[in-house]
Amino acid sequence: MSPVTTGATRAQQTPAGGSGLPRLLPPPSHGGDLAAHLGLHGPVPYRDSAGALIGEVRAAGLTGRGGAAFPVHRKLQAVAAARPGRAIVVGNAAEGEPASHKDEALLFLAPHLILDGLQLAAEAVGAGRAVLYVRGDLRARTRLDDYLPERDAYGLDRLPVEIVWSPHRFLAGEESALASRVSGGPAVPQFTPPRVFERGVDGRPTLVQNVETLAHLALIARYGPGWFRAMGTPDEPGTMLCTLRQASGSVDVAEAALGTPLAALLHLPAVTGNEEGGGAVLVGGYHGAWLPAAQAAQLTLSNAQLRPAGAFTGAGVLAALPADRCGLIESARVARYLALESAGQCGPCRSGLPSIAAAMSELAGSHPEPRVLDNLTRWAGLVEGRGACHHPDGTVRFLRSALRVFGPEVRLHQQRRCSAETDRPFLPVPAGPSTEADWS
Ligand SMILES: Cc1cc2nc3c(=O)[nH]c(=O)nc-3n(C[C@H](O)[C@H](O)[C@H](O)COP(=O)(O)O)c2cc1C
Ligand code: SF4
Repeated sequence: MSPVTTGATRAQQTPAGGSGLPRLLPPPSHGGDLAAHLGLHGPVPYRDSAGALIGEVRAAGLTGRGGAAFPVHRKLQAVAAARPGRAIVVGNAAEGEPASHKDEALLFLAPHLILDGLQLAAEAVGAGRAVLYVRGDLRARTRLDDYLPERDAYGLDRLPVEIVWSPHRFLAGEESALASRVSGGPAVPQFTPPRVFERGVDGRPTLVQNVETLAHLALIARYGPGWFRAMGTPDEPGTMLCTLRQASGSVDVAEAALGTPLAALLHLPAVTGNEEGGGAVLVGGYHGAWLPAAQAAQLTLSNAQLRPAGAFTGAGVLAALPADRCGLIESARVARYLALESAGQCGPCRSGLPSIAAAMSELAGSHPEPRVLDNLTRWAGLVEGRGACHHPDGTVRFLRSALRVFGPEVRLHQQRRCSAETDRPFLPVPAGPSTEADWS
């Protein structure tokens, strides 16, 4: 499924730089076309000076939209300290998370905003090389091969943009895996430190930003920090793209202001009715957390509200579990996928995640052994914090939230019952990796 429609927020389309939504996503008729992009936003607003944009990005309060919400100006500052021309800027469109489609939608609908942001970030840090790292299976759909020469003809890009295609793997967008892939190696996480902003692609200081972050940066450069802050909350300004998976099965990419009630994004009342614990929302994707739907209905799209509840905005994945599905069965399928996606370099991750996933499958099945829940909890504690990357920790967070939120369902399964009316899969899980070559 490749959703590129953009939800209810599309209805209030306002001119670029106006005060409404959406900001990033142009009308579908726009089709990513360069002339339409220039008509909407004008040329790339270069500052003609390295570092000049960094203060504006700090004033805007832009944080990364790839998952960690790290302040963008701090990474820009760190990479800008490198010798002029030495740094590399990479736009991250790996979108390894199977439940997320927002980068795909942005690449399809507003590729030039991303490419403008890549150029502006490169100028801000004085980079000598610009790379766009894109999921390889999107090649045919992105038309990047056409857009780059077209931008050249308009003289828009000061640095040539290289495209590096990434494998569609969960970890391929993790920044050290990205640095390895762009350097010509496999897309597997590297052992850190040093962090990529110190030694990344080819050992050079590397700025890695999610492509949505770059698109916001391109708008801040045009319309200013005050405009950016006119939406969102004072602590979490601006908007973010969300992939909304409704309980009905519909999937949509929508742009929402930070601080928007989750109930305005998901049709939550439709999923709160299952008294056996089926009313649940997955927030933040497969390294995120389940929340009871009734609790989610009281919260907004903001880390200030989500973190105390054990969740976070992540890359904007929100999924409302239908009342006729079993959250344990869904979580067990995701756990199996996450275990298969381990890069297999660290012992606790390589052997621990499959054991955890197998225990989760047993718990979600019809004859769980009495000890399986204890084993699961113990093994989760053994892998946590013991990987070179966050994969084990993210997986454990997801599973712990499942055990918490689907507690009544766990008890049902222990009595050899299940509340599900169907075992039809809900959350998307790609077919497992077939060969080692899948990392390249
Ligand atoms: C397991 C894992 C997978 C990740 N996958 C992606 C991804 O697909 N796309 C992405 O932009 N960031 C991904 N990230 C985050 C990147 O490491 C990096 O923080 C991000 O690209 C920086 O951009 P931002 O600051 O603009 O968000 C991932 C992180 C982890 C731990
Ligand atoms: S923790 Fe797991 S996924 Fe991360 S580098 Fe180690 S083996 Fe690979």
